[in-house]
Amino acid sequence: MAFPNDFVWGAAAASYQIEGATREDGKGPSVWDMFVKKPNAIWRGHDGEVACDHYHCYAEDVQLMKSIGLQAYRLSLCWPRILPDGTGAVNEKGLSFYDRLIDELLAAGIEPFVTLFHWDYPLALYRRGGWLNRDSADWFAAYTEIVVRRLGDRVKNWMTLNEPQCFVLLGHQTAVHAPGDKLELSEVLGMTHHALLAHGKGVQAIRATSPGPCRVGFAPVAQVMIPATESPADIAAARQRMFSVDRDNHWQNALWTEPVLKAEYSAELIAAYGEHFPRVPTDDLRIIAEPLDFFGTNIYFGEVVRAGEDGRPEVVPPHLGFPISAFNWPITPEALYWGPKFLHERYKLPILITENGTSCRDWVMADGKVHDPARIDFITRYLRSFHRAVEEGVPALGYMHWSIMDNFEWAEGYRERFGMIHVDYTTQKRTLKDSAHFYAKVIATNGAHLLG
Ligand code: GCO
Repeated sequence: MAFPNDFVWGAAAASYQIEGATREDGKGPSVWDMFVKKPNAIWRGHDGEVACDHYHCYAEDVQLMKSIGLQAYRLSLCWPRILPDGTGAVNEKGLSFYDRLIDELLAAGIEPFVTLFHWDYPLALYRRGGWLNRDSADWFAAYTEIVVRRLGDRVKNWMTLNEPQCFVLLGHQTAVHAPGDKLELSEVLGMTHHALLAHGKGVQAIRATSPGPCRVGFAPVAQVMIPATESPADIAAARQRMFSVDRDNHWQNALWTEPVLKAEYSAELIAAYGEHFPRVPTDDLRIIAEPLDFFGTNIYFGEVVRAGEDGRPEVVPPHLGFPISAFNWPITPEALYWGPKFLHERYKLPILITENGTSCRDWVMADGKVHDPARIDFITRYLRSFHRAVEEGVPALGYMHWSIMDNFEWAEGYRERFGMIHVDYTTQKRTLKDSAHFYAKVIATNGAHLLG
């Protein structure tokens, strides 16, 4: 078993989750800096003020990545570190941090895959209406242009927004994430449109500014459906449910990926939301659907679906005692077969797994090591599934494990450990977990080690 020769083995993290240094070198506040101070917003009142102190430890971290043999590292940039007010004056010290980090990665032979926005939105822009304001798309494009002008000579792989579903819905509808608002459906849908427009304008800005050829993608959460059996009827039911309209599921692919890849909000979608759906200039969809080079997607689990009695898709509840992660997420390795398969079949783009991983209750054990057999099993099973899709002809660019190191898991604080590298948050000591050693072998054998 092997993956294509140009398949990229990587791992990912995001700025607010690892950097710390939230008030250093002229950085402006983000909505997360504000939100973590709200009572009961975060598990045990944790915050990202120090996190993994990656802002200071980045050189050591890059050496650890190199020791694992990582070929790529997916990082995100903190917008208000670069533009403290979100627009206007550039903070040179903030931008130069990313400059140094990228040079360090390249010197270590690691390709940077850069996400422009992974949720740490400038607080100053939130005060100007944030994503409710249509100008938010232009603010994002202007920021993108500044970044690409500075880093585009070395960064060849870009992603615009990470999981827009999360920052729009968790941030502005359920208030679980920053900024912690509970807005009305029509406002949330308006923001959705502005976020998608920001994505499109961001793509345009990257293409217009990049000094050389580069690849551009998007990194939404894909809602993946897994057929209960491989009968044609169950496969058809899963495919149908994956892309169909569901008025009660605001995370649906029909709302978040169809406009980007198919240039439309379907009539069915608009009808389902009725008066709540925004009226948008028709030209917007052309911008939203700017052509992409790859479909980046974060896949952690899928939902099992079968063809019901009437032939319509029906969700199959998980069986008693089904396996779950420390975070209580179901373990469904088939998601990494059916997700890429259905997404490629529909959108015809090569697939990049921008995130996939699991949280475990890891700690440094009596022998000084961190044994995480569940994560090794998770990686093995999910990657075997992904390999099956690749063998059947799904073009795959690579796999970015979430995460390179334990980090601040948003509302769950430091409770959930997703890393291949264990972080002791009191000493900042890093310890490679067993899974990191395992992944090193997977990389060295281009996947053959997954067979055992
Ligand atoms: C997300 C984010 C990551 C999370 C990870 C685990 O997908 O929610 O991109 O920042 O930490 O997914 O929940």
